[in-house]
Amino acid sequence: MKTIAIINLKGGVGKTTTAINMAALLASRHDKSVLLIDNDPQGNASQIFECYESWSDTCGAADILNGGQPVRYFRSVGAGDNQNGIEIINANISLLGADNALRASTERQDNRYRAFLSTESVTQQYDYCIIDNPPALLMCTINALCAADEVIIPVTLDNWSLDGVETITKQIEELKALNEKLTIAGILLTNYKKSLENEAAEKWLRENCKYRVFDTQIRRSDKVTAATYYKKPLDEHSPRSAAAVTYRKFVNEYLERAEEGGREHGI
Ligand SMILES: Nc1ncnc2c1ncn2[C@@H]1O[C@H](COP(=O)(O)OP(=O)(O)OP(=O)(O)O)[C@@H](O)[C@H]1O
Ligand SMILES: [Mg+2]
Repeated sequence: MKTIAIINLKGGVGKTTTAINMAALLASRHDKSVLLIDNDPQGNASQIFECYESWSDTCGAADILNGGQPVRYFRSVGAGDNQNGIEIINANISLLGADNALRASTERQDNRYRAFLSTESVTQQYDYCIIDNPPALLMCTINALCAADEVIIPVTLDNWSLDGVETITKQIEELKALNEKLTIAGILLTNYKKSLENEAAEKWLRENCKYRVFDTQIRRSDKVTAATYYKKPLDEHSPRSAAAVTYRKFVNEYLERAEEGGREHGI
């Protein structure tokens, strides 16, 4: 099982949109077995997959932080020949309480996700675990980074976001002290619209960033916000929209590069 944390400490850059669509596409278009963890007290990924329990004083992500067993919700994704299922561990605001309790605990604080994700029943069941993260370095975020093999950093192009790349990559490098296998799979340009400024910012990023920037840019499309109201991944809500097309292209690129990496390492 490969665990991928989708992270950026900046808000609204497309983390959740990337996590839910990548999870859905890996299952529906690539026949992978996928676990999606909503690790954000906002619960946006849980809302899309209709397992957001605002009334509950706990949630799956909080259960993991508390050392318990989370409920996993099965949801169908895709359509026609590409229909498949994913499982989701939900979140709500109770995750913040569990986060604070863990921070105050005298026990080891960084290994709750790693302990859950390394159990045999989880590693045997899934090919991929995708973790959607909040725009902050909470204990739950640190736990996700300590359990992950890779991170993908969604970025929207503006002057502040480019600073954000530096902040998060620095944090990730520091966290390697706790999780030496952690690598940055790449930076993903999201919500992308062609303009002179964006082209210049993209060129600067590709030339100056020491990490991989994925070739695919996720295009801006009104259908992305619409899909949140219909509670559907893009490939189901509007498969021909520019954002759906580019998310499919991105997942293909991700898998091709992962395979190339595996061959280089003799896997
Ligand atoms: N490709 C896109 N085209 C148009 N709108 C987009 C695109 N990607 C994301 N958005 C919109 O931008 C907003 C933020 O996206 P999203 O919730 O995925 O970001 P986030 O990084 O998870 O935010 P947060 O930090 O609050 O968790 C949403 O309203 C979403 O619909
Ligand atoms: Mg989000």
